[in-house]
Amino acid sequence: DKGNHRHFMQKEIYEQPVVVAQTLRAYLRRMENEVAMPDMDFDLGAVRRITIVACGTSFYAGMVAKYWFEKFARVPVDIDVASEFRYRDPVLEKGGLALFISQSGETADTLAALRHARAADQIIAVVVNVPTSSMAREADLLLPTHAGPEIGVASTKAFTCQLAVLAALAANLARAKGLLTPAEEAEIVWHLSEAPAAMNEALGHDGEIEAMAHLIAPARDVLYLGRGPDYPMALEGALKLKEISYIHAEGYAAGEMKHGPIALIDEAVPVIVIAPSGPLFEKTVSNMQEVQARGGKVVLISDAEGIALAGEGCMATIEMPKVHPLIAPLVYAVPVQLLAYHVAVAKGTDVDQPRNLAKSVTVE
Ligand code: M6R
Repeated sequence: DKGNHRHFMQKEIYEQPVVVAQTLRAYLRRMENEVAMPDMDFDLGAVRRITIVACGTSFYAGMVAKYWFEKFARVPVDIDVASEFRYRDPVLEKGGLALFISQSGETADTLAALRHARAADQIIAVVVNVPTSSMAREADLLLPTHAGPEIGVASTKAFTCQLAVLAALAANLARAKGLLTPAEEAEIVWHLSEAPAAMNEALGHDGEIEAMAHLIAPARDVLYLGRGPDYPMALEGALKLKEISYIHAEGYAAGEMKHGPIALIDEAVPVIVIAPSGPLFEKTVSNMQEVQARGGKVVLISDAEGIALAGEGCMATIEMPKVHPLIAPLVYAVPVQLLAYHVAVAKGTDVDQPRNLAKSVTVE
């Protein structure tokens, strides 16, 4: 049932504050100011390497998590798409943690990769939205997302719930490694708890984003740029746009522009820049200015501070609340999804069931 919404995708975008809060409740003990995990029969603190494997949007959630695992827990992380991982003969030291991320828990390549890792004596952790799925059944550590059924082919609420679980896992890992003081842990709990309200605020910009869809809808190509954890968000933005609006879109690490893609820039190529204010902001802005100097039309997604510093000269800006960097990917997912959604609606494509795509890719 779509309720008051025109499409399942729209409904699922709007459900995010509630389902992310629901998911966080399973991984945070608010009263104790602690992060929490289900019981496990292995020592998380002894994990020396993590291998993350997934497909599509779930893979991008994993890319964001790599920044967190490295930053908070100082654990080296390998990440690959399942279709590559399963055939490339990866070097897996016995006892490593292999982490699989999947909405459906049935994606053929991810499931095959899981079995491959099992055969290589890895501890198998899975982040899945369907608790009865094959991947859930084969896990040593099952980390459910509580997004509820996701119907739209374009993944939205499953993605932000995956991020919530992965952030909590990063904090648990850091604690298990003795790298988190109780005060730091309390701070993480506090920031994560703020995510649903900030996502709600982001949803408040829906009307504005809808009004700018006509700036993007006529484009043949669109670029998305970001740095750090916003780089996978750029990849996710491009995937959302291409799958439902059929506009060719690419996500790039902002610093890679001058290594090739900047040659594509002209007035006809909108560039979406995802850049919350913070330590990486100036770097991304200088890449953005290189785009503008070549006639590129920029949509800047940032907070008030970022927009005050760099919004001038942009074709449009989308103002997000000022949030802690840990939760920025959860919050910035919202405008990225809404933009793809409204462009697709403006183009009249089938938002919930885009051509050539299936919700669950159970064949290789
Ligand atoms: O069910 P999974 O999370 O394993 O699915 C992975 C991808 O097929 C999925 O994320 C796909 O990329 C979505 N259509 C993206 O919106």
